[in-house]
Amino acid sequence: SWSMEHFIDEQIEKIHETVGDRKVLCALSGGVDSSVAAVLVHKAIGKQLTCVFVDHGLLRKGEAEGVVDTFKNHFHMNFIHVDAKKRFLDKLEGVSDPERKRKIIGNEFIYLFQDEANKLEDISFLVQGTLYTDVVESGAGGSSQNIKSHHNVGGLPEDMKFKLIEPLNTLFKDEVRKLGTELGISDDIVWRQPFPGPGLGIRVLGAITEDKLEIVRESDAILREEIKNAGLDRDIWQYFTVLPNIQSVGVMGDGRTYDHCIAIRAVTSIDGMTSDWARIPWDVLEKISTRIVNEVEHVNRIVYDITSKPPATIEWE
Ligand code: XMP
Repeated sequence: SWSMEHFIDEQIEKIHETVGDRKVLCALSGGVDSSVAAVLVHKAIGKQLTCVFVDHGLLRKGEAEGVVDTFKNHFHMNFIHVDAKKRFLDKLEGVSDPERKRKIIGNEFIYLFQDEANKLEDISFLVQGTLYTDVVESGAGGSSQNIKSHHNVGGLPEDMKFKLIEPLNTLFKDEVRKLGTELGISDDIVWRQPFPGPGLGIRVLGAITEDKLEIVRESDAILREEIKNAGLDRDIWQYFTVLPNIQSVGVMGDGRTYDHCIAIRAVTSIDGMTSDWARIPWDVLEKISTRIVNEVEHVNRIVYDITSKPPATIEWE
C-alpha cells in the first residue's frame, strides 16, 4: 500500500540513480511546491544541490526572511540569495500596465537566475515542483488561462539546457503538503496560500513605488494575522490586500485627510479557476479594518471586494 515513508525512500533512490555524482540546481520561490521538491532532493543528494532564491522585493512581509531561515539556516543547503529588490523596482519604475509589469518581472527573474546558473559549473539538472495537476493541465493543451499571462517564478524557459527532476509529478497538492510536513518543513510554508509569481507587484495597481508596496505589505500582514487568529486560514483559498491607487477624503481628529484606500480580497475556490468571495464574519472584518486604518500610515478607508470569479478575477490586475 502507498505510504509517505515508502514514497520518500523510493524517490530518494530514484533521484540518486538519476543524478549520480552530478550537480543539481533549484529555483526557490518560497512556494509550497518548489520548497518540498528542494527538500526532498536535498535529502537525497545533499550538497550536490544548489538553491537559488531571487528576491524581487515583491514578497509579503517576513517571507524572504522565512525562505533564508528555512533553507539556509535550518536545512543547511547550498543557498544563493540574490537580493534584487532595487533592480526590480528600477525596471518597474513608471510602468502601470499589468501585462507589462508581469513581463518585466518574469524576464528579469529568468535573467537573474540564468546569470547565477552560469556562474556555477557542471550543473546537469534542474529541480521543478511540478505537480500531477500541472502535468495533466499542460497535456490538455497548455495553460488553461489566457486572460493573464501567468508568470510563475518556478517556470523557467525550456532552452535552459538542463534535464528536469520533477519528484512531485505524481502527487496532488494535499499529498505535497503531507510530504512537506513529513520532511520537516514548517507550517508557514506547507500551508502557504497560493501567491502569484509577480507578487505584490500586481497588488499595487498601476505604477509601483516603494511607499505603495509598503502599504500593501503592512496591510496584508495585518489581514493574514487576523485571519489566522480567527482560525480561518485553512478555509479561505486566498486572502490579501490590494492598493487600488485611489485616494479619498477622510477625517482624523480635527483634520481632513486625503489618503489611500485598501481593498480586502478573500475568496474560496477549488482550483483558482472560479471563485466566490469568502463570507468572513463581520466582527473579523471590523477588526481587520480598524487595525489597518490605525496601524498603516496613509490609509483612511477599507473596502471589501464581494465579486465572484467570473466576472471578476481573483487578483485585481
Ligand atoms: P486570477 O487573478 O487570474 O488568478 O483569477 C487565479 C490564480 O492565479 C494566481 N495568479 C498568478 N500566479 N503568476 C502566478 O504565478 C501570475 O502572473 C498570476 N496572476 C494570477 C492568482 O493569485 C490566483 O491564485
